[in-house]
Amino acid sequence: MEPTLAYLLQLIVDTLESPGSEGARSNLTEDRIFIPLFILGIFVIRGIGTFFGSYFMALIGTKLVFDLRVDMFNKLSELPSSYFHGESSGRILSKLTFNTEQVIGSVTQAVRVLLREGLTVIGLFGFMLYTNWRLSLFFILIIPFIAVIVGYASKRFRKLSKRIQNAMGGITDVASEAIKGQEVVKIFGGKTYERKRFYDAAYSNRRSQLKMELTKSLNVPIIQFIVATALATIIWLALDPDISENMTAGHFVAFIGAAGMLSKPLRQLTEINSILQKGLAAAQSIFEFLDEKSEKDQGEIQAKSLQGELVFEKVSFAYPNTDKLILDKVNLVLPAGKTLALVGRSGGGKSTIANLVPRFYDIEEGALRVDGINAKDYGLDDLRRNIALVNQKIVLFNGSVRENIAYGHLAEASDEDIIAAAKAANAWDFIEKLEQGLDTQVGEDGTLFSGGQRQRIAIARAILKDASILILDEATSALDSESERAIQQALNSLMKD
Ligand SMILES: Nc1ncnc2c1ncn2[C@@H]1O[C@H](COP(=O)(O)OP(=O)(O)O)[C@@H](O)[C@H]1O
Ligand SMILES: [Mg+2]
Repeated sequence: MEPTLAYLLQLIVDTLESPGSEGARSNLTEDRIFIPLFILGIFVIRGIGTFFGSYFMALIGTKLVFDLRVDMFNKLSELPSSYFHGESSGRILSKLTFNTEQVIGSVTQAVRVLLREGLTVIGLFGFMLYTNWRLSLFFILIIPFIAVIVGYASKRFRKLSKRIQNAMGGITDVASEAIKGQEVVKIFGGKTYERKRFYDAAYSNRRSQLKMELTKSLNVPIIQFIVATALATIIWLALDPDISENMTAGHFVAFIGAAGMLSKPLRQLTEINSILQKGLAAAQSIFEFLDEKSEKDQGEIQAKSLQGELVFEKVSFAYPNTDKLILDKVNLVLPAGKTLALVGRSGGGKSTIANLVPRFYDIEEGALRVDGINAKDYGLDDLRRNIALVNQKIVLFNGSVRENIAYGHLAEASDEDIIAAAKAANAWDFIEKLEQGLDTQVGEDGTLFSGGQRQRIAIARAILKDASILILDEATSALDSESERAIQQALNSLMKD
């Protein structure tokens, strides 16, 4: 675009410069039609280019972010339990939402500007070389200066972008904690404390953003100034009679015009650098996340239906990245079809033992054998298909009661089976009384139900799974003794089958 405009300038000036002869006159009439049409032509081509450029960039950019998000979520579902203890949910969420969003800006905006303005710069400079290569070479002298500044700015942009992303994680983190714990915040007067925490996180984000803007605001005019210096020198040299003598007036105007037009695309290229660096920093954190180690799943033995005999052999266990041995050479035998109750003080390691069976954590010392085979040798999905679990911390998903009982592999279960499981879990009484029965929405994390009701829904889910290994980790802690006894009886009769 700009190079052609510079060429036009040359045409116009040269046409006007050579009046007199008849030939030149007709030349002028021809050019009078040709030049405006030429201008319109350029804009039509440019318009089409802009349209397809923007749309296809969006097409590519959104596809890339979409793929990244899906890949990240797929990764999320394969990460070991230990990952979730080391990283707060707010930070993981912000990676999935904010960081991916930064990549799209980089892809669409930066690439578009890079292509368009980069080509413009090359075109303009090529035109200048063509018109007067000696003068143009002077521009090359400033490249090292610009490179140093751009290099410094890029590093700083990258560093600040990382800080902004971190601060964004902090913001999501504090907010999600305050939302989940809103009752505690209210009762224990945590308002001021939480507000301060949020203020700090948001402020740290703002400060990094301002620093980023400061670097950008300094960076752009400095580079503009260097370019202007080069331009001024070139014009000064060009006006030297010895040099300008060799050029037609048209060439001269076009050369200066092209040189002048260089400054806008150069500025845009400098400005886009910050977005590019933001995108790179985000991409780095995303790829680090995608490179996280998945759960170990090297076992190859398929286990369609296990008997459920569990043997702990001298199992010693410490949580990852800690030294404290929670289990010290524990031996335990649990024949298939039997019930074992672990009783002990809180913090004694009962939940830890429960967590080792489905291999939420790896046993480093000793072994757990299921039906005589080391649990590590089973395929992870295969092993887990044989285990039903009701956690200390009940998890209900935002959906209907039916979806919560018939969850995952059980999604195809018939209403008959679901109701039977709900009855065994002593949950059918209250589900039946709900206006919409099994279709009642449980709300986020089941907040619309009482603790005991939530536990009974979770127990129904475990019973419906009908697995050979059933783990109940304080699953009836929120139940009255009558409900608990009813569930015990139901479980006993289930085990006889
Ligand atoms: N994810 C974890 N990381 C590090 N230590 C843990 C983790 N979970 C539990 N612990 C520690 O393991 C010990 C046993 O906990 P747990 O098995 O939950 O006890 P119980 O269920 O018997 O009350 C506790 O001292 C606790 O501090
Ligand atoms: Mg426990």
